[in-house]
Amino acid sequence: MERTYIKDLTASTLYYFRNHDVKSLTSKSKRTRADNLRAALELKTVPTPEPIPGTAIIKVLSAPVLSYAKHVYNGMRKYPYPTPFTPGSSAIGRVAALGADCTSLSIGQLVFVDPVIRSRDNPSDIFLMGLHQGATAGSKKMMESVWTLERWNVGRILSTATRERYTEAHLATMAQFMVVYGGLSDIGLRAGETIVVVPATGGFGGAAVAVSLAMGASVIAMGRTETTLAKLSSKFPERVKTVKMTGDLESDAEALRKASNGCIDAVYDIPPPMAAKSTHLKSCIMAIKHSGRISLMDGIYDDVPIPYHLVVHKDMKLQGKWMYGKEQIKIVIKMIETGVLKIGNLGGVETVGDFTFENWEEALDAADEHAGWGSSVVMRPAEMASS
Ligand SMILES: NC(=O)c1ccc[n+]([C@@H]2O[C@H](COP(=O)([O-])OP(=O)(O)OC[C@H]3O[C@@H](n4cnc5c(N)ncnc54)[C@H](OP(=O)(O)O)[C@@H]3O)[C@@H](O)[C@H]2O)c1
Repeated sequence: MERTYIKDLTASTLYYFRNHDVKSLTSKSKRTRADNLRAALELKTVPTPEPIPGTAIIKVLSAPVLSYAKHVYNGMRKYPYPTPFTPGSSAIGRVAALGADCTSLSIGQLVFVDPVIRSRDNPSDIFLMGLHQGATAGSKKMMESVWTLERWNVGRILSTATRERYTEAHLATMAQFMVVYGGLSDIGLRAGETIVVVPATGGFGGAAVAVSLAMGASVIAMGRTETTLAKLSSKFPERVKTVKMTGDLESDAEALRKASNGCIDAVYDIPPPMAAKSTHLKSCIMAIKHSGRISLMDGIYDDVPIPYHLVVHKDMKLQGKWMYGKEQIKIVIKMIETGVLKIGNLGGVETVGDFTFENWEEALDAADEHAGWGSSVVMRPAEMASS
């Protein structure tokens, strides 16, 4: 019984409360065929649990829909997770109830909900609430069994000024900026440096352009689609140059050298699985300067060949990253609150879909359709007025 109780707590934290009811999207099917899971998604009302020590219960106001969420939940993108399962990940919400030991949060406070669940006794066991069970036996065990949304997964945010500047739908996208900051800060990106962001035309790629600029770097935005590259450089006219990815190794590397005057300090790489055979990483390795650093945050599951000798002879550092660290969350919130980093419409990203949980299917379709930088799709409880 205790297990069920705690799982319900997490589900309810993800979604929302109304008259002590919690609604959540739940799937009970096994993912054997692409359509199976999607067909089995259902909107359920479950009891609102009492908060236990160390936890917080959050009433969700707005939650972002990942561009690839449809493919995660229909099984096409083979993310591992146990079923039954409550989809969804980060959110913006208000504190609805607190465990007796919580001292820094207060009821009604606007907060960011972090979906990265970490083991208390092993930092390498991490899973993503409502999305991915992680890569270790421990993370799988955690997602399958008892776990809670810990108090530390709730980021206190949103000064009045921030609240006035952004709608809930805009604020809901902030996890995207935390993800890219995770990689950029791990490679120690510094003001004055030049970084290649590739592909820059995706949702996360565009966020990486914005965060790199906010960190004081100059950006070479590399991608396939010229119209989106042009949109990016018109939104960020200072310190952004663009390079179209042609697939020709030598000419792409030469275009990068030219755009950077021969001095690329770092590369931020965040392509989707479909880009496993793309040549852009090799072009970047060819063009980067000696001692360059590369942040790898790909969604690629296949092996990707790298020019080993160049990595060796250039003393290069390749740094992988999944999500971000707890301290990195606080820094991104500060960057947003101070206006150093602009998100949502101020950062060139328009909310093109704001759906209720009842319309989850349309929400997943819209996020898929509007994948790429410049658009975002969110979901919210039906009774929450769109801001
Ligand atoms: N490491 C982490 O913690 C972490 C966290 C979140 C997400 N991710 C990964 O980030 C990836 C990107 O997500 P997103 O929401 O930004 O996706 P998105 O908006 O759909 O953007 C995908 C980007 O990849 C480009 N692309 C697609 N197919 C390509 C190909 N064959 N060759 C080269 N480029 C290609 C697209 O270029 P066009 O504009 O030309 O189509 C676009 O720039 C996800 O797949 C996910 O796995 C990683």
